Amino acid sequence: MTIAPPLRYPLSDIDYDEQEVEAVAEVVRGKWLSLGPRTAEFEETLAEFLGAKHAVAVSNCTAALHLAMLACGLGPGDEVLVPSYTFVATANAITYVGATPVFVDITGPGDLNLDPGDVEAKITPRTRAIVPVHLAGFPAAMDRIMAIARRHHLAVIEDACHAIGTRYAGSGGKSFPGRMAGTIGDAGCFSFFANKSLATGEGGMLVTDDDAIAARVRLARSHGMSKSSWDKASGRATDYDIEQVGYNYRCTELTAALGLVQLGKLPASTRRRKSLVARYRQRLGGAGGLAVPFLDRIDDSSHYIFPVLVADASRRNEFRQRLLARGIQTSVHYPPVHCFTHYRQACPDTPLLERTVDAASREVTLPLHPLLDETDIDAICDGVLNELGEM
Ligand SMILES: Cc1ncc(COP(=O)(O)O)c(C=O)c1O
Repeated sequence: MTIAPPLRYPLSDIDYDEQEVEAVAEVVRGKWLSLGPRTAEFEETLAEFLGAKHAVAVSNCTAALHLAMLACGLGPGDEVLVPSYTFVATANAITYVGATPVFVDITGPGDLNLDPGDVEAKITPRTRAIVPVHLAGFPAAMDRIMAIARRHHLAVIEDACHAIGTRYAGSGGKSFPGRMAGTIGDAGCFSFFANKSLATGEGGMLVTDDDAIAARVRLARSHGMSKSSWDKASGRATDYDIEQVGYNYRCTELTAALGLVQLGKLPASTRRRKSLVARYRQRLGGAGGLAVPFLDRIDDSSHYIFPVLVADASRRNEFRQRLLARGIQTSVHYPPVHCFTHYRQACPDTPLLERTVDAASREVTLPLHPLLDETDIDAICDGVLNELGEM
């Protein structure tokens, strides 16, 4: 039996302390566990933080994406443009409503976000929406994407899972500078999964400035019921109607309580992530055998993960194994969605997407979380540079 080496530097970790413990304990003592006052407070606080008109808390981001697709009226026969360089949930949510994901290439190894030129090239008479993903926390080129969407009357649903708290700087255009990622399109979707910058275990939020989208999502999140159990328990309603078929995508009060504490910590933890990324770049920015995507951008990111690209794809796995032997955990963000068995079969006409396949085959994600300090980053970089030299 081989014994795994101790993991000195896990890929991610979360900043949890007695505040989270107390917030959950308070909900447990109060014994109201799902959709109630904590959820409402979490929604209001996050909406204000992001500068969005509405925020609707749901059970996870995949549910938020699903409800966004429904609320934007997407369904069978519709095509939705989406990067293949994302977590599979982005494409799955398109599939849930019977629409067809049409995979778009990334800009290149320096910018892993979807290429607006390829977005435009893939528009057909059946295209109805674009789903940009703000990879690693760096917003996609929303000026160009929104301009394309307006020209072709397309909905834009932002998968902002990586980008909570990112301020959009604009990509050379004059639109949207200073707006938060997730608040530029028709709807924005966030994840509070266990390893996210705002972590509650499971959890998600849909934000929108559109009253009709918000109303549809609120209804569909809880079975299509016109009133909630909390409305009844607090004396605001005695019965309810079912106005449409809905889902159980409710947020729990425990999740909302954790989310409120985590949201309070977010600005400081994002600042920490940014200074760690600056240190990584100082050490690795000019290293041979390695490229650092998004190298010219630092302020317009929440720095959720730190991706690097090794020069030689065939040595990537060995490199990762060697780092693991030094106690440095790594990951791969992401295997391209169009290369998975299901999507190869479901979308057989997808072209090669050369830039996506190239970057994905060379990508290695290094540890990044707010519990690291610069000494840790130096130790990780020493390991990386040593292994690059030896390979
Ligand atoms: C880019 C992206 N989209 C969607 C999701 C799905 O989020 P959730 O796990 O909250 O459903 C994730 C989560 O890992 C993600 O990283």
